[in-house]
Amino acid sequence: MAKTILVLTGSPRKGGNSDQLAEAFIRGAQGAGNSVLRFDAGRKQIGGCVGCGHCFSGATPCVSPDDFTEFAGYLQQADAIAIFTPLYWFSWPAGLKSAIDKMFSFYCSGTKTRVKESILVVCGEADQMDIYDPLIKTYEKTAETIGWEDKGHIVVPAVGEPGAVQNTPAIEGMVKIGTYY
Ligand SMILES: Cc1cc2nc3c(=O)[nH]c(=O)nc-3n(C[C@H](O)[C@H](O)[C@H](O)COP(=O)(O)O)c2cc1C
Repeated sequence: MAKTILVLTGSPRKGGNSDQLAEAFIRGAQGAGNSVLRFDAGRKQIGGCVGCGHCFSGATPCVSPDDFTEFAGYLQQADAIAIFTPLYWFSWPAGLKSAIDKMFSFYCSGTKTRVKESILVVCGEADQMDIYDPLIKTYEKTAETIGWEDKGHIVVPAVGEPGAVQNTPAIEGMVKIGTYY
């Protein structure tokens, strides 16, 4: 059945490896009749959560409104989320971390996202797979805590320079994953 899929990207680098993976996924997802919403967290302005606890008490989900308002709206419209990010210091890039931190507003106010399921796609320069473990664990606990069924993760290793991902089978794989997600 056709779904609305939120594609959440993390890289500040426009057109880089994770963007190219996301775009291949979008081609597959749209080709299969799904609708796609896209939020490029690495290129938005989202301040850090200050833990004030006033979430969802005013006109916007966070009482310090910023681009999180748009992201929160997408979380209330989408059936599924697909996260595409580069690995930055074994973790999310800062912009994506800020977006995820502000999801605390859903958690602390007991507000449900509409999203039911999630996948993670992470790329990085390292070719040792254990380098990706901290981010994968963080993603898994995030999905569990916010109430998304984790449909799995994909690591695209050994891609450093922008465009390196084009020399891997991952692009074709993402089209297929987009088709069947
Ligand atoms: C600030 C920064 C931190 C990074 N940290 C890591 C890292 O911890 N491990 C790794 O394998 N690659 C690391 N990388 C490399 C990126 O993950 C890699 O170049 C990736 O392909 C970038 O994806 P993008 O083109 O979508 O931005 C880092 C790059 C930057 C700029």
